[in-house]
Amino acid sequence: MIFFSTHIGECLSERMQEARPLASQLLLLSCLCVAASGYPFRPPLDLDVTPRVTVLISGVQGSRRFQSSTVNYSTLLLEADRERLYVGARGAVFALNATDISANPAPSIEWEASAEQKFQCLLKGKDNKTECYNHIRLLQRFNSTHLYMCGTHAFSPLCAYIEEKRFVMSSQPEEGRDKCPYGPTTGYTGLLVDQQLYTASQYEFRSFPDIRRNSPSPTLKTEDAPTRWLNEAEFVGSSLVKERLDSSNGGDDKIYFFFTERNQDYSGTYGQSRVARVARVCKGDRGGHLTLQKRWTSFLKARLTCSLPEYDFHFNMLRSVFVMPDVEQQEPLFYGIFGLEWKNVKASAVCRFSLAEVQKAFQGPYMETQDSGSKWTEYTGKIPEPRPGTCINDALRARGINISTSLPDDVLEFVRRHPLMSHQVQPLDKRPVLFRRTTDYTHMAAHVVQGLDGETYHVLYMGTDEGWVHKAVEVQGQIHIIEELELFEEPQPITNLLISTKQVSLYIGSPSGVVQLPLSNCRRYPTCYECIFARDPHCAWNSEECVDVVAQANRSALIQDIQHGNRGCEKAHYDVAQKSRSVRVGDDVLLQCELISNLATPLWTLNGKELQGYDLNSGFRSGTDGLLVIEAQVGQSGLYTCHAVENKIRVAIVTYNVTIVADLPPAPPVDPASTLVVTQSRASEDTSFERTSLEPPSLLLTPSKYLSPKNMEALYLSLITVLSGIVVVLAVVLVYMGFCLQVGSSGKYSLRAAAAAYPRNNKNKKSKTQHRHSSHLELKTISSHCKGNGICNGMSKLHNGSMQDLGFLQIVPGEGHTSPSRETPPPAPPLPSTPQHPSPEGNHPNGFAATLPSVLRRMNGNSYILLRQSDSESISPFPFADELSKILEKRKHTQLLPIPDESSV
Ligand SMILES: *[C@@H]1O[C@H](CO)[C@@H](O)[C@H](O)[C@H]1NC(C)=O
Ligand SMILES: *[C@@H]1O[C@H](CO)[C@@H](O)[C@H](O)[C@H]1NC(C)=O
Ligand SMILES: *[C@@H]1O[C@H](CO)[C@@H](O)[C@H](O)[C@H]1NC(C)=O
Ligand SMILES: *[C@@H]1O[C@H](CO)[C@@H](O)[C@H](O)[C@H]1NC(C)=O
Ligand SMILES: *[C@@H]1O[C@H](CO)[C@@H](O)[C@H](O)[C@H]1NC(C)=O
Ligand SMILES: *[C@@H]1O[C@H](CO)[C@@H](O)[C@H](O)[C@H]1NC(C)=O
Ligand SMILES: *[C@@H]1O[C@H](CO)[C@@H](O)[C@H](O)[C@H]1NC(C)=O
Repeated sequence: MIFFSTHIGECLSERMQEARPLASQLLLLSCLCVAASGYPFRPPLDLDVTPRVTVLISGVQGSRRFQSSTVNYSTLLLEADRERLYVGARGAVFALNATDISANPAPSIEWEASAEQKFQCLLKGKDNKTECYNHIRLLQRFNSTHLYMCGTHAFSPLCAYIEEKRFVMSSQPEEGRDKCPYGPTTGYTGLLVDQQLYTASQYEFRSFPDIRRNSPSPTLKTEDAPTRWLNEAEFVGSSLVKERLDSSNGGDDKIYFFFTERNQDYSGTYGQSRVARVARVCKGDRGGHLTLQKRWTSFLKARLTCSLPEYDFHFNMLRSVFVMPDVEQQEPLFYGIFGLEWKNVKASAVCRFSLAEVQKAFQGPYMETQDSGSKWTEYTGKIPEPRPGTCINDALRARGINISTSLPDDVLEFVRRHPLMSHQVQPLDKRPVLFRRTTDYTHMAAHVVQGLDGETYHVLYMGTDEGWVHKAVEVQGQIHIIEELELFEEPQPITNLLISTKQVSLYIGSPSGVVQLPLSNCRRYPTCYECIFARDPHCAWNSEECVDVVAQANRSALIQDIQHGNRGCEKAHYDVAQKSRSVRVGDDVLLQCELISNLATPLWTLNGKELQGYDLNSGFRSGTDGLLVIEAQVGQSGLYTCHAVENKIRVAIVTYNVTIVADLPPAPPVDPASTLVVTQSRASEDTSFERTSLEPPSLLLTPSKYLSPKNMEALYLSLITVLSGIVVVLAVVLVYMGFCLQVGSSGKYSLRAAAAAYPRNNKNKKSKTQHRHSSHLELKTISSHCKGNGICNGMSKLHNGSMQDLGFLQIVPGEGHTSPSRETPPPAPPLPSTPQHPSPEGNHPNGFAATLPSVLRRMNGNSYILLRQSDSESISPFPFADELSKILEKRKHTQLLPIPDESSV
């Protein structure tokens, strides 16, 4: 088992192009693999949801950006009705126009710590590159005319009022050390409710974390003794939950806090050192009289669980929460983004909780511990009356308890010792709505969108630690990621994310700036099917284009299918690109066909008949970016059509009229003996290419006339001996590969996912892929040359129709890395080089024809050149490097063939 786990991890990580092959990562992945294969009967949760469309930064449309000379735009306050987005950054606050955050001028307040203050900070041993600045951590509305803000102020926090109208600080800053953390990254959450400031953090001056209310008097805190209510808590969020206006019991509003803390309760079996929690206090709390004086009398906390139960996999680190805005007739919900305790392992789970479940936990049994630090067990004794931790409501008032200071002492004493509830809060459906490995989500926001089918859909936006945003929709409990958008040139964590339905915008805070995105970009989908496949509740097809539903007055004719993503486009017309190709016999040709969707699988037809089994012997390989015709034969001419198959619908994308012309001069008859002579005479510079004529004929074409019975006999004999050897080798390879394939249900994407995770490598991706195969070959990309000097474009014109589009792959020997047994490799052919082979295409002044396939085969070395014309944008991140290596692999085997022949001759 261990052996297999390690290997799965290895092959997976290889497939995923992991740049950081961490032992722990391998372990996690292999755990998941093993777990996945070990639970064949419970597969409902997609173990790694693939975003349907990947949009690189150059393709992101409609975004607006705000940037200034400062950094760390982490604190956002949206006031949609006032059309304002307030942004707290490092040393500055901005008032942006929420309709267009790039609109000038944006009022701002500069507020940086003095040089003296920064020096003091440095003396405290703090980092003057990050910590010794004034990071705005709190920005909230105070009253109708003023905002309130707090900043870390070079490790000496201050708070101040902002007069909104003139956008200036309206008073001298005041002491902030009990309202604001000292550092920019300390877990913190703050909330101003009715001019009372609730904050939670691990304040520097107190060694313990604390949830506190600073006004009105008395200031309330959490308790440290005899039972510590919070343990190394890292706060991520807080939310006010109002009692319904019609609530008859006069219940009190509550403030919920979300955090991760050290686990005191190891009875929960998993033995994790940290746990995710939700805690709450009552807004009307005034503390106790004798017991719990100036302490919360309503503090209760419970564990939030988010796990993949069938894999016994527990996400215990809460990274952020998003509380769904209170919508009538809907039970209050919140989403949490969870991660794993191991910092090096990328993985995220999104769990959704109902507040009712939290309240139920707070109504359940308490936990108790004999003395702080020891084992916690469920409390089974008598619970005093009124129930400890409840807010003051009408029922209590009726009993004469109208303020928390009048609560009986035994109740308060119980509260003091029993802050933790026994029941854990399970997510809805008892499982994450979304799980993704290879991605660390940092923040999210969600809203409810009404589909044309009358259903309501939750649309989720999630930001990653590398500056991507994933937009997803939940359909029948399953998450479909509509798209992933790259937002920054430099990868950086998304530090905040807000939705405004009024501005129809998403606001994203990051270290380098603020980005505003439209909630949808339906125009991205050019055809009806694309529009439907996207399953974006914002979008529908109006028989001409994919449009934003909200903007449509007459929705009766709109087509949308969020549930299945495949219905409604049967009558829609769409164009299929027509291209033609003319190549020589024996060339390797790539018919490009880039699928927009990561969820689509390519399907090729030749003259209307489906090409079956793209294995090595069929003479075809199908990849993420097209179809590779290996050593084309005359009979392979015809009309090739590439289809994208998605949601069981087949959509034609491009048709190639491929004409394969016989080699000029005509290909010599393939006689093994004569080939051998050639081979021997040129043993030192022998290549696999010359020997390819000995290959077993492709399934499609059988040039049997070349093979005389005698030769056939010899060939078969040798084939049998050699093949049996190969079979053994292949069997081992296949078992190994099989694991990879089995694990990566979308192997195609697992590569892409890695790319998304390392977007900086986009441009190097190809070379990275190539490095992987450097043991076999060296790949060269010359698309950059093409792009740089426009030669490729010029070339496509020169090829007057027969090759208007050079978007095909040619295998060209490059700098020859011949095998060690061979002599010094011949010098690398220059690119472009003199045509060495007269050909119809060969008479071009630029000499590019030298790179045409027919030439290649006369040259030496195992090096290949990948020739592509398209812009790098349109190149799918995973080109044919894989395929090439397989072809090479095959040729390596075929190289064995001549040897037995030699002896038989
Ligand atoms: C602030 O921005 C700098 C530069 O982009 C970054 O290195 C740092 O991590 C950021 N700090 C926080 C707290 O976001
Ligand atoms: C924001 O910009 C829009 C147009 O871009 C303008 O109509 C509106 O008045 C501006 N709002 C504020 C508060 O400046
Ligand atoms: C940080 O302090 C060092 C001296 O310890 C100083 O040389 C450097 O310029 C300071 N950097 C900044 C950004 O203030
Ligand atoms: C809002 O609060 C500020 C600061 O305390 C105060 O100066 C101002 O008068 C208040 N505004 C209103 C409308 O109460
Ligand atoms: C609580 O009730 C007492 C009398 O029962 C009354 O005197 C007091 O004002 C009330 N306090 C509050 C805060 O309502
Ligand atoms: C809406 O469009 C449909 C079909 O295009 C049409 O039959 C109907 O009359 C339109 N309704 C309105 C109110 O314009
Ligand atoms: C394909 O191209 C060849 C010549 O290049 C032409 O004769 C033939 O008609 C074309 N076929 C179709 C279906 O366009």
